[in-house]
Amino acid sequence: MKITYEICVVHGDGIGPEVGKATLRVLEAAFGESIPLRFKEYPAGAQHFLETGESFPKETFEACRAADAILHGAAGMPGVVHPDGTEAGLDFTLTLRSKLDLYVNVRPIKLLPGVRSPLRDGTPNSIDYVIVRENSEGLYAARGAGTLLRDEIAVDPLVQTRKGIERIVRFAFDLARSRNGAPHDGRRRVTCCDKANVLRSYAFFRSVFDEVAVQYPDIEAEHVLIDAMTVHLINRPSHYDVIVTENMFGDIISDLGAATIGGMGMSPSAELGDGYGFFQASHGSAPDIAGKGIANPYGTVLAAALMLNWLGRRHADPKLLQAASRIEAAVNHALADRSALSRDIGGTAGSEEITRVLCARLREHN
Ligand code: IPM
Ligand code: MN
Repeated sequence: MKITYEICVVHGDGIGPEVGKATLRVLEAAFGESIPLRFKEYPAGAQHFLETGESFPKETFEACRAADAILHGAAGMPGVVHPDGTEAGLDFTLTLRSKLDLYVNVRPIKLLPGVRSPLRDGTPNSIDYVIVRENSEGLYAARGAGTLLRDEIAVDPLVQTRKGIERIVRFAFDLARSRNGAPHDGRRRVTCCDKANVLRSYAFFRSVFDEVAVQYPDIEAEHVLIDAMTVHLINRPSHYDVIVTENMFGDIISDLGAATIGGMGMSPSAELGDGYGFFQASHGSAPDIAGKGIANPYGTVLAAALMLNWLGRRHADPKLLQAASRIEAAVNHALADRSALSRDIGGTAGSEEITRVLCARLREHN
């Protein structure tokens, strides 16, 4: 347990500062006077790149490395690119993933009460699974390292290592042990999502998955091909508990999953390594609605709750775990009575109103 936890905050671009500042207020309200978190803000992102030529300054990286956790708003501006065409705004997230070896990307997909799912069977409690996205290798490990030959041939290799697969699959099974199983049948289940029928790298992923799975006889293990998975997540989401998958597949199905629970604005993400935790919403910087006061802060607020849970467990600190539960309860309450729904989830509330509703409830209950 620590007296104070240093949180490195990077607001980023677009709606990033709006959802980031809203979340800091919610965190303050969740603790009241005796807040054990110290926030320090640092720059990174596309706007910073435009102003200074640097997308991720060295001091910001050092602060991230030294902090107890990293909280991010969102980053990226379309058209602000490096000479190779890739976006400068993404450097922050992608560099942290590789330099801090954040090999797990935990993306809970949970339909909260009061939020309408576009799915026919999307009733409260029917969608509650976690995508465990391998975050350090797979296709995205080639970022900046692929080849463009004679301006004719472009190659990005897909990298899968035994160590990388073992550690992500273990994380998925351990997570399944801590959960209550799939909504449909209450069974604890880990689904390996791959394309083992076509590519060797995915067949390897599956075979290592199988080796690890036998060490968890109490958890059901199954395989689903990625293309079929896009159908199952629409037709029978309640079957799923924990899904483990390669980096790019996880990127894609986590957006699909988010769409079933109200959209990207409702979807938090926790990127974890052995010693580091990086927390943000799954969405991007939404430049089209930036500065209008209508951004949905719930994704980032829920990411902050994931941060408190992770820090609380890591440092055996119950006050962080309790604050995480209070934030989740405040979110559930604000959504369930439909008193603070943003436009993307069918309401009219702006970011400020949602933040005020959450803070008021937290001040009453902390
Ligand atoms: C995500 C995002 C990132 C990704 C971007 C910002 C690099 O889409 O976290 O899902 O592609 O992984
Ligand atoms: Mn994504």
